[in-house]
Amino acid sequence: MIEAEGITKRYGDFLAVDDVSFTAQAGEVIGFLGPNGAGKTTTMRILTGFLPATDGSARIAGHDIFNEPLAARRAIGYLPENPPLYPEMDVAGYLEFVTRIKDVPRARRRSAVESAIERCGLKDVHRRVIGSLSKGFRQRVGIAQAIVHDPRVLILDEPTVGLDPIQIREIRSLIAALADPGKSEARTIVLSTHILAEVEAICPRVILINQGRKVVDSSLAELTAEGQSLEDVFARVALRAGEAA
Ligand SMILES: Nc1ncnc2c1ncn2[C@@H]1O[C@H](COP(=O)(O)OP(=O)(O)OP(=O)(O)O)[C@@H](O)[C@H]1O
Ligand SMILES: [Mg+2]
Repeated sequence: MIEAEGITKRYGDFLAVDDVSFTAQAGEVIGFLGPNGAGKTTTMRILTGFLPATDGSARIAGHDIFNEPLAARRAIGYLPENPPLYPEMDVAGYLEFVTRIKDVPRARRRSAVESAIERCGLKDVHRRVIGSLSKGFRQRVGIAQAIVHDPRVLILDEPTVGLDPIQIREIRSLIAALADPGKSEARTIVLSTHILAEVEAICPRVILINQGRKVVDSSLAELTAEGQSLEDVFARVALRAGEAA
């Protein structure tokens, strides 16, 4: 579903992402971890076609993000760090607008919007103007716009940041349900977070990057097999980086 090969991003002399490769299959939920500035957002923006890479290539559901950007982007749902919400639009109207951008056939738009509203718990606010919603509800709208066209691959940049504990729990179960949707095809989900408990709760696989390089790519079970917590693993990696700097 995702094949990333040697993704590299330079800003002048600064190497923000350094030769990151990984593949992810349908049904996988990957926790994408790393200290502040590690390169998570940059990698996600490259994978979703929002930022050109300096080097490397990536395929999403078989489509090259550089040579077939439209097909690749149709297969992707992306929750950016700051979702591009239109504050003056109402929730349902905005989601309908997104289905058009994403080329959802006209006949399917209404049901796509209704389904995203339902799954993200937005029923009670679907006629409200986005600018009047609380942060948590705006985050749900951000997730709704990422899933409304039923993409096979979801890239979520800190999906639960700023949410209250109840909403965090709801969004986590939504993410888990999206990964394993029962009858329909399984999706591939990559989510970045600083909440390690979140990874332990919903991500069977962990990719840790540090100073732009992939340093861990392992199952959660393997990582924590010898009684060490994910926090131990994270701290060790971040500490090593501090010594090197
Ligand atoms: N446009 C830019 N020009 C120069 N440097 C940039 C630019 N965008 C990002 N960077 C740098 O690239 C590095 C990686 O940033 P990125 O936002 O990908 O980190 P991150 O892992 O998402 O961090 P966080 O956990 O804080 O969200 C940082 O050092 C950042 O300052
Ligand atoms: Mg980031």
